[in-house]
Amino acid sequence: MARILITSAIPYINGIKHLGNLVGSQLPADLFARYMRARGHEVMFICATDEHGTPAELAAAKAGQPVDVYCAEMHEVQKDLAKGFRLSFDHFGRSSSQRNHRLTQHFAGKLADNGLIREVTEKMVFSIDDNRFLPDRYIEGTCPNCGYDSARGDQCDNCTKQLDPTDLINPHSTISGSTNLEVRETKHLYLMQRSLKDKLEAWIDSKTDWPVLTTSIAKKWLHDGDGLQDRGITRDLFWGIPVKKGDQPWPGMEGKVFYVWFDAPIEYIAGTAEWADAHGKPDAEWERWWRTDKGASDVTYYQFMGKDNVPFHTLSFPATILGSGEPWKLVDYLKSFNYLNYDGGQFSTSRGRGVFMDQALSILPSDYWRWWLLSHAPESSDSEFTWENFQGSVNKDLADVLGNFVSRITKFCAAKFGPAIPAGGSYDDRALALIADLETRVRAYETHMQEMEVRKAASELRAIWVAGNEYLQSAAPWTAFKTDPEAAAAIVRLSLNLVRLYAVLSEPFIPDAAATMLKDMGTDNRTWPGPVAEALEALPSGHAFAVPEVLFRKIADEEREEWSKRFAGTRG
Ligand code: MF3
Ligand code: ZN
Repeated sequence: MARILITSAIPYINGIKHLGNLVGSQLPADLFARYMRARGHEVMFICATDEHGTPAELAAAKAGQPVDVYCAEMHEVQKDLAKGFRLSFDHFGRSSSQRNHRLTQHFAGKLADNGLIREVTEKMVFSIDDNRFLPDRYIEGTCPNCGYDSARGDQCDNCTKQLDPTDLINPHSTISGSTNLEVRETKHLYLMQRSLKDKLEAWIDSKTDWPVLTTSIAKKWLHDGDGLQDRGITRDLFWGIPVKKGDQPWPGMEGKVFYVWFDAPIEYIAGTAEWADAHGKPDAEWERWWRTDKGASDVTYYQFMGKDNVPFHTLSFPATILGSGEPWKLVDYLKSFNYLNYDGGQFSTSRGRGVFMDQALSILPSDYWRWWLLSHAPESSDSEFTWENFQGSVNKDLADVLGNFVSRITKFCAAKFGPAIPAGGSYDDRALALIADLETRVRAYETHMQEMEVRKAASELRAIWVAGNEYLQSAAPWTAFKTDPEAAAAIVRLSLNLVRLYAVLSEPFIPDAAATMLKDMGTDNRTWPGPVAEALEALPSGHAFAVPEVLFRKIADEEREEWSKRFAGTRG
C-alpha cells in the first residue's frame, strides 16, 4: 500500500466555475484519487477556495457584501457544487484560514532568514479620496498604446498590452471614480527567485517522467529572459494575509498583505492541516503528508492543474519550498491540462459564456457530465464541448452500451431464471475469448489510470463495456435458453458478474452509477480485479439481485436543441 497525496489547483472564490475549469484540475484529480483508493492506497486529496487578491475584493464589492462575508458564502456554494459533482476531497479548505495565515507567514519568515527576500521601493498610484493604493484592476484610464479609454491598470483589454498603473492616461479609481490621484512610493517584499535558479533547474531536470506540456512550460519560463524574475510577494490591499515574519511584525510592512499567488499554493499544506483540525487530529497527522522528516518521505505527491498554472507550480511554489530550507514535500508528478472550449469559442467567466457547474447539474446528474468531460479531457491539445458531441457520447457510451447491457441481462435473467444468479453450465469458447480480451484490457486500463492518461483510460473503459455488450449480443442467451438452458445459465452468470466488475472499474468515472449497479447486484464487493476470470466468480449462483431502473437515459434531440439555445448567450 502506497501513500498518495493529491492536490487540485484551488479555484478562485469569485463566482461559480464553468465546465472548462472543472475538467482542467478538480475532476481529473478526483478520477485519480478514486482510482488510487480503489487500488487500496492511502490517499489524501486536498482542494480549497482561493480567496485573496483584487478579484475577490471586486466581486464582493459588486455583490454589495463585505469581502469576508462574500468569501464565506461563496465557499459554501463551491463546496456544495463539488459535492454535486461527487468530488471526493478529503478536505475542501479556504486559503483565508488561520492555518494558511500562519503557514504563509512562517514561509515568508524562513525565506527572509535565508536571505531570499529583499525590500523594493516602488512608485504606485494612490487615491487620495479612497485613501488607498490602486493596484491592478482598481485603476482604469486611457491606454497609452491604442487609445482605448477603459484600459485597466495591469492590462489593456483592447490591445492586450501589459501595463503598469502609472502608464495610464487620465486615470481614475474604479472604486470611487475619483481622479484625485497621485504617485506615491511604497515598499514591497520581493522573493529572490533568481538565486534559486540552479536548484530549480536541477530539480526540474530530474523530472524525466513529467508530461511534455508541463516541462516545456517550466523550461520556457526558466530560460526566457524575464521568466524567473524576482517577484513581488506583497500588495497594498486590505483583504489578505497580513505581512509578518513568522509570528513577528515586519517593520515597514504594516497594513500590507501577501500577494495571492504567494499564499494560494501554501493552502495545499494548510488545507491538510485544516483537515486534521476538522477531525480532531494532532499536527503529526498532517505533517506525515508534508514533512519528509516526519514521515512524508514515502509519500508520492501528484498535482493537477490547467496549463496557465504550471509556472506557479514548477517555479514559484517550489522556490518557496526550496528557499525555506525546511524538509517540505515537493511535487513528484505534475499533470497539466490544455483548455476546453465551448461551442466554437471560449468558456468565459467574466462574460458568462458556456455551461457553469450549477447549470450543468440543473439539467443532468453529475455522471453524465463526468463521463463526457473526462473522456474528452483536453490533454494533448485543447478540446471542444458541443451539444451534439455531448448528446452523442451520452447516448452511445452510457445509454446504448453500458446501460443497455445492464438492463438487458438483469431483465432477461429475472424473467427466465428469477432474480438470482443461476447455476449450471460452463464457459464456452466465446466466454473464454471474452475473458482473455478483458484480461488484456483491464491491465491496459490500469496502466492508463496509473499514468493519468485520462482519455486513454476512458476509451479502454468504453472498450471494456463494448466487449461485454458484444459478447452478450453474440452469445444470445435468449436463443440458447430454448435449447440448452444450462448454456444460457453460464452466459447469464458471467454477464451478471460483469455488471459487478463494470461497477468496480467504472467507479472513478461514474461513481453514482457504480453505486447503483453494486446495490442492485446486492453486493458491497468493490474488490479491484486481479485475474479477470477470478473476478467473474465473485457473485456465486444463488446470489440475489434486483433489476435496476434505467441507469442512463438518452438525451432527445429536442432537449439538445433547447439546451444549446439556452446556453448560447451569456449568463445573466
Ligand atoms: N486560483 C487559481 C486559478 O484558478 C489557481 C491557484 S492554484 C494554487 O487559476 F497554486 F494557488 F493553489
Ligand atoms: Zn490598448
